[in-house]
Amino acid sequence: MQKVMLVACVFAGVAVYTTLAISAEDLAAAVKERRHLMKDIVRPAAKVGGDMVKGTVPFDAAKAGKAMTDISDVPDQYVKLFPKGTEHGAVADSEASPKIWEDFDGFKATAQKLKDASAKAASAAAQGEGAFSAAFNDMTKVCKDCHQTYRVKKE
Ligand code: HEC
Repeated sequence: MQKVMLVACVFAGVAVYTTLAISAEDLAAAVKERRHLMKDIVRPAAKVGGDMVKGTVPFDAAKAGKAMTDISDVPDQYVKLFPKGTEHGAVADSEASPKIWEDFDGFKATAQKLKDASAKAASAAAQGEGAFSAAFNDMTKVCKDCHQTYRVKKE
């Protein structure tokens, strides 16, 4: 009888362990993936739009629209890549402020703002350069807002 109890306890312990613990590799992979989205998708797409707004590259409605659509595809997957334990200092290369987990709804709402603002910039591109510039500048304010509140720059 005692032996049966012991076995049951061990199994219960294993079950709790596997549901709660996320391995260090999984945490590192989440940081890597979210950095990839910002660095390799959002930043280059924002540069495509920014160069047109600055006038260093001629305005091209189709290219501008595509770049903004690429950005609007990111936020939904992005907010899923913030498991607890991946804040700055906990995982190498993380620049995520602990504030994200103190106010996860606020963080998600800001990500949703990026999705809306980039979708708006994508449709504005079809209306011409002036409309695009205005919508693009509104979008970049969302980048700045989120970084100021939820990102810590590595020293
Ligand atoms: C909802 C919040 C949020 C929005 C909106 C946002 N970012 Fe970020 N961004 C972050 C966070 C948080 C990090 C740091 C993530 C990490 O290190 O784990 C980051 C990191 C970055 C990085 C550094 C990537 C790296 O690891 O080298 C770049 C570049 C970047 N963002 C560009 C942008 C641009 C451009 C926009 C707007 C088009 C934008 N971001 C909008 C939250 C946001």
